[in-house]
Amino acid sequence: MRIIRCKNYDEVSEVAARIVAAQVTMKPDCVLGLPTGSTPLGMYSRLIQKNKENKIDFSNVTTFNLDEYFPISRSNNQSYYYFMFENFFNHININKENIHIPNGETTDPEAECASYEAAIEAAGGIDLQVLGIGQNGHIGFNEPGDFLESTTHITTLTQSTIAANSRFFESIDDVPKKALTSGMGTILKSKKIIILASGKAKSEAVKSLLSGKITTQNPSTMLNLHKDVTLIADEDALL
Ligand code: F6R
Repeated sequence: MRIIRCKNYDEVSEVAARIVAAQVTMKPDCVLGLPTGSTPLGMYSRLIQKNKENKIDFSNVTTFNLDEYFPISRSNNQSYYYFMFENFFNHININKENIHIPNGETTDPEAECASYEAAIEAAGGIDLQVLGIGQNGHIGFNEPGDFLESTTHITTLTQSTIAANSRFFESIDDVPKKALTSGMGTILKSKKIIILASGKAKSEAVKSLLSGKITTQNPSTMLNLHKDVTLIADEDALL
């Protein structure tokens, strides 16, 4: 795993935005895998800026988001659908037909997961997957456990993730208990992966990621099986 050590969050965001911009410049019709959360916000705002300055063209880019709460309405301002349009897609010249986000409104989550996995395959797979990391090492909504699912699936959130995400909801009871998420196999099939980490709260998870040991109790450690992963982390996350 390559490690890019950054001074702070701004530098993490800048490095990540440059890598995404380079990918889109090299392959204008590339497929990007995208996360939500607080960590990628700085990267998204820099990509928006580069797009406004005509330094990056998203018109032929296809995107697949990692995950979505279930059940949740797309108009709910806590849905990942809402988050992605609000923080990124509404501000760039992407073709809206090329945007894919697991549908939290579905009445048939198993069918939704199967068709999402098939759509990634049909698009030729993900060229560059951008990831954040949970405090417990989760990737997407692949939570620590006795086993990990390989493909896109419906999952139950752990109490620690519900607690971490409750900061965005009025009360912890409003946090959905389930999610649709790409599996670790889906993620590991990506041609290239960057994983962003910022802040002390991520340092334990990052330490375990870098230990070289692979355990289902920290899903991020599975990334050690991939040949092209770059961790972009600030000093606090690397403590
Ligand atoms: C969200 C996702 C999650 C987040 C993780 C870190 O799409 O995939 O795994 O990356 O929960 O979230 P933040 O960045 O808010 O600390």
